[in-house]
Amino acid sequence: MQAILRTAFPPALPSRGARSFPWPWRDRAGRFSSLRAVTLALVLAPAAWLLVTYTTKGLGPEPAKAALREIGLWSIRLLLVTLAVTPVGRILASPRLLSLRRMLGLATLGYAMLHLLLYAADQNFVASRIASEIALRFYLTIGFVALLGLAALGWTSTDGWMRQLGRRWKRLHGLIFPIAALGVFHFFLQSKSQLWEAVLAAGLLAWLILWRLLPAGARLHPIALLLLAPATGLAAAGVEYAWYALATNLPADRILAANLDVSFGLRPAVWAAVAAVAPPLLALPAWIRTRRNTPPGSAAPAPAPAPPPAAARSAGR
Ligand code: HEM
Repeated sequence: MQAILRTAFPPALPSRGARSFPWPWRDRAGRFSSLRAVTLALVLAPAAWLLVTYTTKGLGPEPAKAALREIGLWSIRLLLVTLAVTPVGRILASPRLLSLRRMLGLATLGYAMLHLLLYAADQNFVASRIASEIALRFYLTIGFVALLGLAALGWTSTDGWMRQLGRRWKRLHGLIFPIAALGVFHFFLQSKSQLWEAVLAAGLLAWLILWRLLPAGARLHPIALLLLAPATGLAAAGVEYAWYALATNLPADRILAANLDVSFGLRPAVWAAVAAVAPPLLALPAWIRTRRNTPPGSAAPAPAPAPPPAAARSAGR
């Protein structure tokens, strides 16, 4: 727990005179960071809003269940946002953005732990019942494994663990992708017929994985990024089709075909493809700048360099 707190509140460099408390809105140099402060406020906002709605009895007849679902939703949303920081930070060449990954990752873990706490509250904190339900209900077992994975990554996210594990640290933290896939699977398993956001989450996760699978030189190239948009839509539609075909009696073919029919509104797979058009648009200005600065006849313009890890870390990762 101490390690997690230490990571969430990175130590500021000791200033001359009084030692300042390592508040999360400060960067590693101990300076106030408006980006960190705004991010912190944004990640705390859903929990604060839920608390207000709970106290004003706005959560309906089963407030504990409603809060459990809402916090579960925010866990998966924050997880996807955390994973999106690396591609967006690289595309925008922004070490400051990359420096937010640890805070966002720990916030995801915090929400997932709160989700479990609310589940325990819904079960009146009867430990034997909670344990047997988690062991016997497949969707809860999957959620529990995902939570254990998040906890392991949160625990080892400190500078000390990074140093200790060296190159293995990156491999260990690459497990965030299978963990996210488990989180999305848990989402599908308990969604029953309301699959809209689960399919969208699957599509966005597919984009995040596909981006990592691109050759390093193509990850910032607008054309390569544009090609990821249809791939993302197809991946989301494929997951949705597989789900309906394997887990329900509903006509999966007709649901797949509905992706091409906009008369009922856009399906989540189409929204995932639309969202995937944003990264190539973000990458375009830097790419045009690099091309303009490349003398004619010289080799193809190199993509904007990834920010050096030292820069990211000094910005307060
Ligand atoms: C011990 C771990 C976990 C337990 C016991 C658990 C339990 C539950 C329960 C009981 C529900 C509501 C089911 C219903 O409405 O009938 C739920 C929904 C959900 N959980 Fe979990 N969960 C766990 C871990 C996770 C993790 C790690 C994530 C994501 C990273 C997650 C994301 C979600 C989502 C997105 C929903 C759906 C919310 C909705 O339908 O609006 N859960 N979970």
